[in-house]
Amino acid sequence: MKILNVAGARPNFMKIAPLIKEMQKHPEIQPVLIHTGQHYDDKMSKFFFSDLQIPQPDIDLEVGSASHAVQTAKIMMAFEEVLLKEQPDLVVVVGDVNSTIGCALPAVKLNIPVAHVEAGLRSFDRSMPEEINRVLTDAISEYLFVTEPSGKENLLREGVPQDKIYFVGNVMIDTLLANKAKADQSLVLQTLNLRPQEYALLTLHRPSNVDVREIFLSILEALEEIQTHLPIIFPVHPRTRKRIAEFGLTARVDSMRNFRLTEPFGYLDFLKLMAEAKLMLTDSGGIQEETTILQIPCITLRENTERPITVQQGTNVIVGTNTERIIQESHNILNGKSLSAKMPDLWDGKAAERIVKILIEKSL
Ligand code: UD1
Repeated sequence: MKILNVAGARPNFMKIAPLIKEMQKHPEIQPVLIHTGQHYDDKMSKFFFSDLQIPQPDIDLEVGSASHAVQTAKIMMAFEEVLLKEQPDLVVVVGDVNSTIGCALPAVKLNIPVAHVEAGLRSFDRSMPEEINRVLTDAISEYLFVTEPSGKENLLREGVPQDKIYFVGNVMIDTLLANKAKADQSLVLQTLNLRPQEYALLTLHRPSNVDVREIFLSILEALEEIQTHLPIIFPVHPRTRKRIAEFGLTARVDSMRNFRLTEPFGYLDFLKLMAEAKLMLTDSGGIQEETTILQIPCITLRENTERPITVQQGTNVIVGTNTERIIQESHNILNGKSLSAKMPDLWDGKAAERIVKILIEKSL
């Protein structure tokens, strides 16, 4: 069974890694790894391949950055050629980025079945590009592998037949558990001169937060206050770095003494930073899940989440972008009010194993 596995943007790499590793254990599967090139900087891509020992991609579509339509169209055009040449039995896509829908659509049009890993998540916010990618990819996929019960409920409500939905756990957590011991050896805290539990970690890159000056400012004002209590480490996404300059905020950011901007980290260093932080502030999706497993308090700088289990059972609080609210919730955590997490079902490091087993059984 020839399977094309697609990864394109940073959050895809930790999801595809355990799937490729698991497929390599089964001689009846010929896994082919496709990188779309949606992310291309070493810090956004190559370092994840080396940290996670992902094999070099067999094919790189090298699409690069562009508007949504242009980027997705380029992915579709390049991937269609690959499909015609490779004639795979199945395409596996992960997550919710433009590469996910950009590869699912041409495959289905050629009658090649698609498996969507991390299906069914819904923020119910159609202004979020990822939500569109999720809804569309799920609607055309043959195998829907879900990470949490809400995923199954959402898909059933949307009319997806029950026999296409598989609750298998979370491949991103497979990667976290497999790499935790290695990440513990990272010297990143020493390099940054930090002590465990004495800093906050921040990521911020959602267009809804960083592309609108007023909203970005509302968050920044909260960070200005929080950094007077403990250092905030902020690995800056390329999108956000651009906006800081465009919005004329460079001097203001530089004046915040305990606000430490860095380049994006590789997987292992970032995992170490998360695991030792007093507090995580983020608008990422995956980090809400990772902090739940690590039992680190997570303040989500968004109005909604597509991962409700991290709130119901985990350490996640959905706080939005209001300055006072962010400050208040951060102080709650600094004052010792933190949630303890109950591990979500099947987030046990074996999701990829379950997925590959199902794919083999179904192909017989
Ligand atoms: C994408 C995903 C988002 C994910 C994020 C993680 C979509 C719609 N969004 O958003 O879900 O959370 O990746 O990082 O797919 N850039 C670089 N170097 C790179 C990649 C991007 O400098 O290697 C810059 C470019 O200026 C580009 C901008 O970042 O225009 C945005 O990149 P893009 O892939 O379009 O979206 P992200 O914001 O990264």
